[in-house]
Amino acid sequence: MQHCDVTILGAGAAGMFCAIEAARRGRRVVLIDHARTAGEKIRISGGGRCNFTNLSTASERFLSQNPRFARSALSRFTPGDFIARVDAAGIGWHEKTLGQLFCDGSARQIVDMLLRDMARAGVALQLGTDVGAVARGDQGFVVDTTAGSVVSQALVVATGGKSIPKMGATGLGYRLAEQFALPLVDPRPALVPLTFGGAALERMAALAGVSVSATVAVGGASFAEGLLFTHRGLSGPSILQASSYWREGAALTIDLAAGCDIAASLKAARQAGGKQAVRTALARHLPEPLARQFEVAAGLGSDVLADQSNAAIDRIAVGIKQWRVTPTGSEGYRTAEVTLGGVSTDALDARTMAAKSVPGLYFIGEVVDVTGWLGGYNFQWAWSSGWAAGQVV
Ligand code: FDA
Repeated sequence: MQHCDVTILGAGAAGMFCAIEAARRGRRVVLIDHARTAGEKIRISGGGRCNFTNLSTASERFLSQNPRFARSALSRFTPGDFIARVDAAGIGWHEKTLGQLFCDGSARQIVDMLLRDMARAGVALQLGTDVGAVARGDQGFVVDTTAGSVVSQALVVATGGKSIPKMGATGLGYRLAEQFALPLVDPRPALVPLTFGGAALERMAALAGVSVSATVAVGGASFAEGLLFTHRGLSGPSILQASSYWREGAALTIDLAAGCDIAASLKAARQAGGKQAVRTALARHLPEPLARQFEVAAGLGSDVLADQSNAAIDRIAVGIKQWRVTPTGSEGYRTAEVTLGGVSTDALDARTMAAKSVPGLYFIGEVVDVTGWLGGYNFQWAWSSGWAAGQVV
């Protein structure tokens, strides 16, 4: 039996950061993961360059049943604090867009920085170790693993959500929450491509690979970013963002020509000698295959712009600017970047991430009901919540 001060389950972003902080305070930390390598999601994140934070980090950029919960940790360990660590490690970075910071080189540099900091602080990292029963007794927490039992006063659960089971996601954190009678907010896939059926899917599949700048609105939220047509439906940043707000049965309202008054443009083109086809005039604002599809969908008697009434033009414009489509589902945990929901923030102390009803038990990172928008917010939550617990365990 191994004795330590703090056992951390999950060597992802949150678990590693918490381990560094606790070990720097002199705590004996054992960090356990069933994966053979630590920080796998960091390594593949941001297209291999890791979008490690966002300069616009604020609690408004997070979904949770209590959006204010994240404020404390995010304000005490900020994007600036993480940037300082990245700078100290000599890792070059740049802002891509919308406050999103990426490594100039490889995401691997962030993993290496965390591994180096853990080694220097004396964290005992146990990879390839399966976790069995977890119990709480007089000695503290006892975690049975394939490498023997570990006993500690504090147990930090940093096992992430259910997204991408192929990369080691298991839902262990939710099971532990239930074991200790902590409430859960139903988990669901988020930041995920949306799927469609029937005629809508036929139209989308015919456009697979085409991308546009779009504004996608659903559930009171609206995102102006890229949209990509796929063989299964819709993807791209605007759709991934919207997926976090979408619920079964709800329609998306999509503006495929954001910032452009299509009706005014078509009427002006008609005035200037409208011998051209409707699709040709539309193709000034939309990719050509999409323009052709909207011309067909309008069911016009003639495809010549000059033949179109104001009403017909308005109808075409509404079709493009207020395209309403209802997803049949999402691609699910197989491709979702994150998991919405998780351990209810009602059960946790916002300052320390401690379970209010179970002394010594902590939940950090994605397993908690705090989910960021696309763009570096989720890693910032992992660093901030890991840091907060690391100060007190
Ligand atoms: P994380 O999932 O990282 O770590 C959990 C750890 O627990 C894993 O190592 C896992 O193996 C381990 N574990 C799980 N079950 C276990 C069990 N039963 N026993 C032992 N160990 C167990 N975010 C962002 O801000 N910027 C970005 O660029 C990206 N890009 C991105 C790309 C892709 C493809 C994905 C899937 C996700 C992103 N994200 C992202 C989201 C980001 O990766 C995610 O929010 C964080 O990794 C969450 O960190 P955690 O440490 O909480 O969980």
